[in-house]
Amino acid sequence: MTKIVHISDLHFGRPSVEERLDSLLRQVREISPEAIAVSGDLTQRCSNREFRRAKEYLETLSETAPYLVIPGNHDIRWLGAVARNLGFAGMFREKAHRFKYSRYMRHISEDLSPSLEVPGAVIAGLNTAHGITRGSLTRRLKDLGVIGHVRSEDVRTVNRAFKAADPEAVRIVMIHHNPIKGDASGRHGLANTKKALRSFVSLGAELVLCGHDHQEAVHTTEESYQGLIISTAGTISNRLRPGRSSSFNLVEIDSGEIHVVPYLWREEGSGADPAFVPSERRSFPRRNRRRTSGQSA
Ligand SMILES: [Fe+2]
Ligand SMILES: [Fe+2]
Repeated sequence: MTKIVHISDLHFGRPSVEERLDSLLRQVREISPEAIAVSGDLTQRCSNREFRRAKEYLETLSETAPYLVIPGNHDIRWLGAVARNLGFAGMFREKAHRFKYSRYMRHISEDLSPSLEVPGAVIAGLNTAHGITRGSLTRRLKDLGVIGHVRSEDVRTVNRAFKAADPEAVRIVMIHHNPIKGDASGRHGLANTKKALRSFVSLGAELVLCGHDHQEAVHTTEESYQGLIISTAGTISNRLRPGRSSSFNLVEIDSGEIHVVPYLWREEGSGADPAFVPSERRSFPRRNRRRTSGQSA
């Protein structure tokens, strides 16, 4: 059994809550996963202070298991790079690109689409947070700077990571923006969802990890994407959708199935300490495993 703790939207800064962060650390130690996947929005305001705190926290997590992290839309200085993104300032493109990710790169990592292989799974991170770019413009003004998109060159990076991995390992793509509409928000986070999901399936991905919606969800897109499973982790912070709790997801992979269990924050009550507690466990047959064993997908 391969276990991956999937965390998102930590939002260090005002929205973060020490008690939940401490509890999460304890629970990660208890679960003792093979890997920790962090799908972006480490900070609230992209400040150096928030990034320092985020890095410290990631380092503490790494005492239990290796982690993989990508930026979210809150982790980039997108305003300063609008001209570059829209192609008005070709001369300054590289400089503006560096500026946009400068704090993330300084404090967290130079690699915006890293990958991690552990026994039983390979996770390829793909950066979907580009700020205001041609690819992320939609008809909704509210989407400006918030919505993400998947670039072809990053899909090729995922492909390389998958090709280099053990053929038996489950292929997992991690992005920040949710490709499936959230129940409460009624929004999905990607401008080019269909194309992105199709390309992930064509590379052999069985599972997508994402965040951004601040509401936990587990989906399978059986009809159009041949059983791709999507784990959306909620937020650890207090930037919550009305009536929802902070949460993270636990992914468990065995030879025949992939299981996803959201852990929801439970406030103190009836003698119990506050903690993240497991909710319904969803199980899905392994798509690629089924194909190789000759059953219909
Ligand atoms: Fe967020
Ligand atoms: Fe986000």
